[in-house]
Amino acid sequence: MATMPRGRIVGTGSAAPKKILSNADLEEIVDTNDEWIVRRSGIQERRISSKDRNETTTDLATQASRNALDMAGISPDKLDMIVAGTVTPDRQFPSAACMVQESLDAGNAAAFDVSAGCSGFLYALSMAHNAIQCGTCKTALVMGVERLSTILNWEDRGTCVLLGDGAGAVVLTAEKGDNGILSTHLRSDGSLGNLLYSSEGKSSLPEILDCVEQKSFYLEMEGNRLFKRAINCLTSIAREALAHNAMCEADIDNMIPHQANLRIIQATAKNLKISMDKVYTNIHRYGNTSSASIPLAMDEANRGGHLETGANILLVSFGAGLTWGASLLKWTM
Ligand code: COA
Repeated sequence: MATMPRGRIVGTGSAAPKKILSNADLEEIVDTNDEWIVRRSGIQERRISSKDRNETTTDLATQASRNALDMAGISPDKLDMIVAGTVTPDRQFPSAACMVQESLDAGNAAAFDVSAGCSGFLYALSMAHNAIQCGTCKTALVMGVERLSTILNWEDRGTCVLLGDGAGAVVLTAEKGDNGILSTHLRSDGSLGNLLYSSEGKSSLPEILDCVEQKSFYLEMEGNRLFKRAINCLTSIAREALAHNAMCEADIDNMIPHQANLRIIQATAKNLKISMDKVYTNIHRYGNTSSASIPLAMDEANRGGHLETGANILLVSFGAGLTWGASLLKWTM
């Protein structure tokens, strides 16, 4: 039987809003302090988008995508598929992916969104990779993009200090051989959906006026209960990815985790016996950008020369749903 092609990342890109909101700025908004935020989460500042600065979800995703396409040297009309991981599209419909398809003028691409909380990028990557393996797609654009600042309750210090806005994108092409995406692994547990959710809107839209009055469209989170579960889920899915590829922890050259909390990242790396010098983090500068965090970190790591040819790279994420996932890549660019 002929070997199946796999998706290989041939371009990365990212985009971040201009406005930086520091911990000191937050001290003016809620009862918090820099020391608490840094000690509990590792976050020093985050970016906050504004539609007045052309930083909508579509704007950020388009900019990240153009950067990734430029690096790949691929024109938008070559794309067969555009998949966006997001929970903060500009509109309920059309999808963020369709809006980016229009702004890129990617006339030959199917386009759709994936809603998987902070795991949105890994879910989207998996969809595109599977389509490439099936032969239904040859060139795909995969994005993670969020404007979480638009659904934050700026009176809730337990959540508003943790999250931020941004976008990241990768271009995948179909390739035979040993390089590229080795495997993707996805899980969910909807029974714990109430640990992290944004309550109203969507099909409850007729009740939108009640919703505004009750401020019930904000993101709600039980951080404490998520914390331990995140570490367990990230560790177990990473081990599953390693076992699937007959690898062990020592084979990992780089880990690019979802950036939710530095302590979660450190505990996961410790469980996996992966030294923190192999783990790329930028949470101190962006906070938790949900599905944008992995592609944003990957683009920085790539452009900063941290990813070497032949490196085994582990991606892991955890988020609302609950959802979690992992992917192993053999890097060449
Ligand atoms: N500034 C100052 N104090 C704060 C605060 C803030 N921004 N937010 C909460 N506190 C207070 C709490 O009110 C609490 O006070 P109390 O003991 O008097 O009741 C105290 O700090 C401890 O709160 P707690 O929630 O137990 O802190 P924690 O050590 O669990 O850290 C998180 C909180 C949110 C940073 C942590 O639980 C976390 O990161 N969880 C995972 C979140 C996550 O990953 N979410 C996304 C998944 S993708």
